[in-house]
Amino acid sequence: MNNPGPPDRGISPGFCFGVLGSGKGSNFRALAEAFRAGTLGCEPKIVLSDVERAGILDLSRSFDIPCLYVSPGPFQTKMSPEAEEEIIRLLREAQVDFVVLAGFMRVIKEPLLKAFPGRILNIHPSLLPAFRGLEAWRQALEAGVPEAGCSVHFVDSGVDTGKILGQSRVPVLPGDTAESLHERIQIAEYELYPRMVREFAQELRKEE
Ligand code: GRF
Repeated sequence: MNNPGPPDRGISPGFCFGVLGSGKGSNFRALAEAFRAGTLGCEPKIVLSDVERAGILDLSRSFDIPCLYVSPGPFQTKMSPEAEEEIIRLLREAQVDFVVLAGFMRVIKEPLLKAFPGRILNIHPSLLPAFRGLEAWRQALEAGVPEAGCSVHFVDSGVDTGKILGQSRVPVLPGDTAESLHERIQIAEYELYPRMVREFAQELRKEE
């Protein structure tokens, strides 16, 4: 049988991105599956995690995408300057065009923001600007809003404050628990994030 060759990368064969994640990596899985299916239009080139045993690293290996743990240093909510410099170095070495946060639980500081200006995306489980920060789905439930959702936005120096690229709405159903609502929001995320990443790569292509 002939070698099928690399997967069809869609409309922008040259573009690739790095992924930063701290958790189970289900959004990364959605991106990697879209890449594998040839519908992402760009390529996940490297996965970096601040959590040594994060599921996202196992997932990355299962997709044959290079991955590394980067020790975050002594702080809880941000990386040490050294860790951030190491992340920049690894992203540059991998020659990524942009960066995708997929459940990365630390605030991005100036060096990384400056290294990829306007080129860092995040997904957040609320209809921003509502419910920034942790457990946004629980915040939505407790506030009694009829509708929750998820947003893909550019990362700036604030927490979930950057310009919004796109959103998906998820109704809050009678009897919803924080868990059931979160589960449905995540399903919406798996459709939204690959679509937004593809569109972003398309925009980059237009700029070239
Ligand atoms: C997602 O719900 C995303 O909105 C938030 O962190 C979670 C990451 O989940 N930023 P996973 O690691 O992709 O499963």
